[in-house]
Amino acid sequence: MTDQAHIRNFCIIAHIDHGKSTLADRLLEYTGTVSKRELMEQTLDQMDLEREKGITIKAQAVRMLYNALNGEQYELNLIDTPGHVDFTYEVSRSLAACEGALLVIDATQGIEAQTLANLYLALEADLTIIPVINKIDLPSADPERVKQEVEDVIGLPADEAILASAKEGIGTQDILEAIIKQVPAPKGNPNAPLRALVFDSHYDSYKGVIAYVRVVDGELHEGEKLVMMATGSATEILEAGYFQPRLIPSETLSAGEVGYVATGFKNVKDCRVGDTITVPAALGRIEPLPGYSPAKPMVFAGIYPVEGNEYPLLRDALDRLKLNDASLFFEPETSTALGFGFRCGFLGLLHMEIVQERIEREYNLDILATAPSVQYHVTRTSGEVLEVDNPSEMPDEGEIEKIEEPWMDISIFTPTRYIGTIMDLVTTRRGAFKEMKYIEAERVLLTYSIPLAELITDFYDQLKSRTQGYASLDYSFGGYHEADLVKLDILVNGVPVDALSLIMHREKAYAQGRALVEKLRSLIPRQLFEVPQVLRRRHYAQAQTAGEAERGQETHEDGGECGDSPGSIHGDFVAGGLIPFLGRGRPQGSPPHTTPPPPLQ
Ligand code: GTP
Repeated sequence: MTDQAHIRNFCIIAHIDHGKSTLADRLLEYTGTVSKRELMEQTLDQMDLEREKGITIKAQAVRMLYNALNGEQYELNLIDTPGHVDFTYEVSRSLAACEGALLVIDATQGIEAQTLANLYLALEADLTIIPVINKIDLPSADPERVKQEVEDVIGLPADEAILASAKEGIGTQDILEAIIKQVPAPKGNPNAPLRALVFDSHYDSYKGVIAYVRVVDGELHEGEKLVMMATGSATEILEAGYFQPRLIPSETLSAGEVGYVATGFKNVKDCRVGDTITVPAALGRIEPLPGYSPAKPMVFAGIYPVEGNEYPLLRDALDRLKLNDASLFFEPETSTALGFGFRCGFLGLLHMEIVQERIEREYNLDILATAPSVQYHVTRTSGEVLEVDNPSEMPDEGEIEKIEEPWMDISIFTPTRYIGTIMDLVTTRRGAFKEMKYIEAERVLLTYSIPLAELITDFYDQLKSRTQGYASLDYSFGGYHEADLVKLDILVNGVPVDALSLIMHREKAYAQGRALVEKLRSLIPRQLFEVPQVLRRRHYAQAQTAGEAERGQETHEDGGECGDSPGSIHGDFVAGGLIPFLGRGRPQGSPPHTTPPPPLQ
């Protein structure tokens, strides 16, 4: 047990790839927490996927012992935070357990969109900020310019920034010294009843849910009864300890310390992140710690097994993923085209991609995902308000009073030469300009608001390719706004295919529907279908049969340009294996399908 004056709890915040994990590795190595030989590259990025993609997905924590220049030993608890904007909620959890933050900035790139977004979160949590300018070993590094940015944009004195190279180990000791000098020691009351904040959790098949905790007041001991203040769930502490970065049992954790508690809970719901752990005797006598709101899914998609009989395996896989990922939402759904599957909610597109990849890799299942959608607020003429995240649940147009869609506030850091192309991209995506601020002569911060639905169809890829990778993006939820939206149904053989339905802006429906039908026409073997059709509400936007197109005939009811191509997701989705399921329309005598269709409703 360490007295609070010798404890420092801190995290590292940075824009993606600015060197957070590499710096964490250097700190672990310098303090002898993990020897050089043991040090796998990027110890804190433990998940295979994290190492492969070079990104941090789940927050990790680690305890280091540092012998400072003043001759005293300090316990430093580092809580790693993810850099990608999808995982902002993980960052805010980690911040609540710390008193200080290292703000790492790449000396070749300077301040980027998430540098600022994470800085604001840290300032909201009242943390002491230590700026670290990393990668000074690179020939293109310009630490003096970045120092000036730190002063101008962040408002911290330029000479307080520490120059470092996490790769070469330059500046590591300066950073550790700054942590013990500048980050305040925890100020909890060791004699008060126990209050510990749960900032993360993972599931262990032997010990149940392992809660990652920051003890604020009091002490906790192995074998003691504990109760979760928000959920009311009670259990006994099976094991308590700290991270190094593996779990090391220590029997107790005291005020100011960061560690873990093995709870034996079989369900993460019993141990909600943001909840306060205490002892039953203290209930009613103490206030819970300020928690944080649970992560809210923003992007929704249907996930279906390619083989219908793998549905129970898919359910098990999602159940298990959910044990470690409280932000994943899912519920069963059925589709006439795809059979039984699940409607899943994700924090963003990266989160969705990661979950899909984990299902395929870790559980060896072939899955199909429908095009991602957002959650709409639909007011019926009766006044009832529905939350619709699945196009097939959209009520008939006649029953709808209004539809509101989620908008995001986005900030883009970019060199000035790309302003024109970014403006163009944002306006074609229905975005609205808000502000332009010069960070330095050659770089600007642009802010816009834009519908989330437009952001999730390859906006980020477009931004990167139009700016040769120079622009960086950050976004936050900006509220619901009314929009003129319609449901686009695709008819195959005269029957709407629910899995292909989309909700989109009326102005784009014609062009997108037409492009989608053309894509379908090239993908569906001619002998299988006579008539792929697009139906927009009850009005035909376009009807095109394979035969007609070949003869150069098209029938339109309303006009429109066909310039827009559908998001790549639609293409992948169709190419990714939907076609076999549509084979119900197969004319007699055509060859049988290789994949049997799943059960139909
Ligand atoms: P996320 O975990 O995705 O948020 O990224 P990160 O901020 O943890 O970045 P990471 O530590 O993975 O570093 C990104 C890349 O920069 C890696 O290829 C590192 O090897 C490299 N890198 C990190 N620090 C330095 C440095 O000081 N000098 C040089 N030359 N390269 C560095």
